[in-house]
Amino acid sequence: MPKLTNRRWCVAELPDDRLDVSHFSLRTVARPKPDDGQVLCRVLWISIDAAGRAWLQADTYRRALQAGDTMPAFAIGQVVESNSEELAVGDIVTGDLGWQEYAAIAPSGLERIVPVRPLSNYLSVLGITGLTAYFGLREVGEARSGETVVVSAAAGATGSVVGQIARRDGCRVVGICGSDEKGAWLTDEMGFDAAVNHRDPDFRKALRAACPDGVHVYFDNVAGATLETVLGAMAPGGRIVCCGVVSQYDTGTPDAGPRGVPGLLILKSLSMRGFLLPTFAARYADGLDTLADWLDDGSIKPVEDVLEGLERAPEGLVGLLNGSNLGKRMVHVADPV
Ligand SMILES: NC(=O)c1ccc[n+]([C@@H]2O[C@H](COP(=O)([O-])OP(=O)(O)OC[C@H]3O[C@@H](n4cnc5c(N)ncnc54)[C@H](OP(=O)(O)O)[C@@H]3O)[C@@H](O)[C@H]2O)c1
Repeated sequence: MPKLTNRRWCVAELPDDRLDVSHFSLRTVARPKPDDGQVLCRVLWISIDAAGRAWLQADTYRRALQAGDTMPAFAIGQVVESNSEELAVGDIVTGDLGWQEYAAIAPSGLERIVPVRPLSNYLSVLGITGLTAYFGLREVGEARSGETVVVSAAAGATGSVVGQIARRDGCRVVGICGSDEKGAWLTDEMGFDAAVNHRDPDFRKALRAACPDGVHVYFDNVAGATLETVLGAMAPGGRIVCCGVVSQYDTGTPDAGPRGVPGLLILKSLSMRGFLLPTFAARYADGLDTLADWLDDGSIKPVEDVLEGLERAPEGLVGLLNGSNLGKRMVHVADPV
């Protein structure tokens, strides 16, 4: 029997600079009632995404958040009431359910899944994270066997899958991360060929040493100073995949842009291409089938960083922006019945 109340995290105040847990407030409100055609979902697992900070900053692919808004988030839920013929009580769904215990939502905003693996996998390798890595590396970066692939935020959600796919595809894989401990984990546990720490004063030198033939594909999750450094190490004809700009989200004064654009692009015949995952929506099913095969044959593994309890969502996002996560961060809220 669902509870009559709903706890939800709202935006208390928009950040001017660094995000802090005080920018959110936990409110207890009445449990929402689904309208005709809607369903009521109990939230089970919440994805914590770096993009959540960008939504607090400006209009992106979604309208910028305002004080008072419920914090949105991709999540897994279970239908506990249904006023729709499209979904039944008990169905497991994914969609934008937010940082809360219950969401009333139309089925058009949900995807029904039939889980055959731990639910958390549908937020990591078999979710947005895995698909972003798969299409970004293979379709946008066109990484080929024998090439050197560098990925930033390599120990994070997207980056750790990018590295595993590149390694599987026969590339030399170099991860950029924010600590020597993460670097050791990438090489010792995840099979990366090398790792470099972007906080190392000799970062530029270390990157060049790790990529003696230059960088053929750079999967950029962070932009800023890291992008500027990698630009200088690109091999002629190299491809830069612009996936995200984490270094620019949690600040009131984003960089004007890396030096070397367009100069180095011209000099080295580089290409730089951004993408948003939904561009590939028509091919998600193929991507998910392939990723599931790779999970089965052990060539990639899910790396999941789970925080227990809805209370921990703000701390999860603030920490992610500071690099406290290893792999895909998510919050476990409840189990299905
Ligand atoms: N294009 C798309 O459709 C799409 C879809 C999904 C995600 N994305 C993007 O993918 C990127 C990764 O997102 P995610 O959710 O997977 O997060 P994540 O990589 O799990 O976590 C973010 C990581 O960024 C690193 N970081 C933070 N500040 C940094 C800085 N100033 N310089 C360098 N690294 C910094 C931290 O790692 P270290 O401790 O190692 O520094 C942190 O762990 C984001 O930019 C996101 O917007 C794009």
